[in-house]
Amino acid sequence: MEKKVYITGIAGMLGSSIAKSLQKDFVVTGADLIKIDMHGIAYAVFDLCDKQALLHSIEQARPHVLIHTAAMINVEQCEAEPENTYRVNTELTEMLAQICTEKKIKMIYISSDSVFDGEKKGMYTEEDTARPLNVYAKSKYEGELAVSHCPDGLVLRTNIYGINLQDKKSFGEWIVDSLREEKELFMFDDIFFSPILVTDLAEVISQCIKQNLSGLYHACGTGSISKYDFGMEVKKEFGYVNGIINQASSQRMNFKAKRPKNMGMSNEKISKALGIDIRTPKESIVEFHRLYMEKSEV
Ligand SMILES: NC(=O)c1ccc[n+]([C@@H]2O[C@H](COP(=O)([O-])OP(=O)(O)OC[C@H]3O[C@@H](n4cnc5c(N)ncnc54)[C@H](OP(=O)(O)O)[C@@H]3O)[C@@H](O)[C@H]2O)c1
Repeated sequence: MEKKVYITGIAGMLGSSIAKSLQKDFVVTGADLIKIDMHGIAYAVFDLCDKQALLHSIEQARPHVLIHTAAMINVEQCEAEPENTYRVNTELTEMLAQICTEKKIKMIYISSDSVFDGEKKGMYTEEDTARPLNVYAKSKYEGELAVSHCPDGLVLRTNIYGINLQDKKSFGEWIVDSLREEKELFMFDDIFFSPILVTDLAEVISQCIKQNLSGLYHACGTGSISKYDFGMEVKKEFGYVNGIINQASSQRMNFKAKRPKNMGMSNEKISKALGIDIRTPKESIVEFHRLYMEKSEV
């Protein structure tokens, strides 16, 4: 019997990518706030924080695995709306962890590299202590704690970029579109991260299900890169020579939410556990280019 997978936030950047990828091997459904054409996949449209509607939807779908991607992800908005953020990012995750435990559903929770304070010299491993600096990061970390009590639960910390099916721009798309429009960008040379292309993460998640991985893992790109260097690699790959990227320091920005400077994470633990190699950010930008052109042609 094919396994059934339920994806929360299925119309989001990551959710839609996972749905497309898992469709090959699993029966896929899920839920989101908005309705879009999702590669022919049927899913429910409602507010996941509505417990009755959530229970009803999960009971109808009877999934073996639930992948929880839905979240409030705008860090500045989260800082300004802490109550809403904890309701969506923490309380909803707690509710799902409880439902999954009761119904013996394997829960996979997508967390974030921002749970760290960024003070470490070198890449963060799963052994390092989380010390979230802002509301978004705290709300995601509290979600991790809830899922850590699920028997068989899996927490994947990540940092993603890719293509949106919805009419909003991901970090990668923002860089490309700005360069194409010959805009001048300022990108941080003092913030480091380990981004993974969403389609690569979708493949990693598929392996996690097939190999029944549980516990805490960093599912990110291989190696760490500054935001500025990432932008420059995108510019080189896409060949938009008239757009300008300037080096900038995050010190000069007036963010309401404090941000970690070093979000570089090691993916050694998950690579070994699954027996896979994950691309470096520079390598995955080539595939991002292909996907971007494919979307432009539609
Ligand atoms: N993007 C990143 O750089 C990044 C980095 C690290 C970790 N992550 C984590 O990765 C996950 C996926 O991120 P993403 O970039 O794919 O986000 P996304 O594109 O915003 O997708 C999330 C989806 O969930 C939906 N949603 C939010 N609240 C909901 C609710 N109460 N009921 C039903 N649907 C709801 C959103 O709808 P609306 O858009 O209408 O709100 C959206 O369609 C998140 O858990 C995030 O914390 C993301």
